[in-house]
Amino acid sequence: MSVHRAARLLAGAHRAVALTGAGISAESGIPTFRGAGGLWTHYDPIKVASIDTFMKDPQAYWSVARERGPAVLAAEPNPGHYALAGLEQSGHLAAVVTQNTDGLHHDAGSIRVIELHGSGRTVQCLDCGTKESRRDVQQRLEFQMPPRCRICGGRFLKPTVVLFGESMPPGAVADAMQLAEEADVMLVVGSSLVVYPAADIPLIAVRMGTPLIIVNAESTPFDSLAEVVIHGQAGEVLPELAYLATMPGDG
Ligand code: APR
Repeated sequence: MSVHRAARLLAGAHRAVALTGAGISAESGIPTFRGAGGLWTHYDPIKVASIDTFMKDPQAYWSVARERGPAVLAAEPNPGHYALAGLEQSGHLAAVVTQNTDGLHHDAGSIRVIELHGSGRTVQCLDCGTKESRRDVQQRLEFQMPPRCRICGGRFLKPTVVLFGESMPPGAVADAMQLAEEADVMLVVGSSLVVYPAADIPLIAVRMGTPLIIVNAESTPFDSLAEVVIHGQAGEVLPELAYLATMPGDG
């Protein structure tokens, strides 16, 4: 069975890396971007989540964020997040490299988390640099659109996430690429693997001859490169995988 083959690979790993996407947070109530019911099936990502549009009209971003915000802010880690934190604790996983900005890996207890697309928990004023929590800004959206900086009154309050057209945090990219080069197993969870340069991470590992495991609800463009492909729900597959990989006598 695939989950057993994947567990054997992980059981022997000491520097495994997990690349996660929106799919790992779907069972926490946060809609994904692509696939059935994905955010980009309702909105044009360039119109609502690109830096160019944001600098012309921040309201385009914030009016969508007003709707999506409550689900993201109320979300809690699910068994998938906890399973990865457990694999780090048991010394199999070196780090989680995530495309998600929801902060749920941290909440689940993962220590080494590389946030490739930044964090959605903070918002920064592009005029005066003031930072404040997303939770506070979310409350103002009921009566202020776009939200204003509480210090300078500026109207360019930008979430500390990477919008389309923006470059990724250089430190995070460098860390992620180094982890991929040194990985002894690459585990992709809940990503359509169509957004670059994040999707380069598993490719770096594959080019090094590192076995690739993919856990995703649907097929991805990299399935043919993988040693093991498991089409399923991350919150169900990962706990079983972690349990089998950490069973005594399997290391
Ligand atoms: N368990 C496992 N996989 C799931 C689950 C689940 N419970 N639910 C959905 N999926 C899969 C979907 O089949 C889909 O292939 O997760 C994948 C999510 O893909 P996307 O929505 O494209 O998310 P992601 O790959 O993270 O997107 C990358 O694109 O929009 C930008 O910046 C945004 O970080 C994001 C980036």
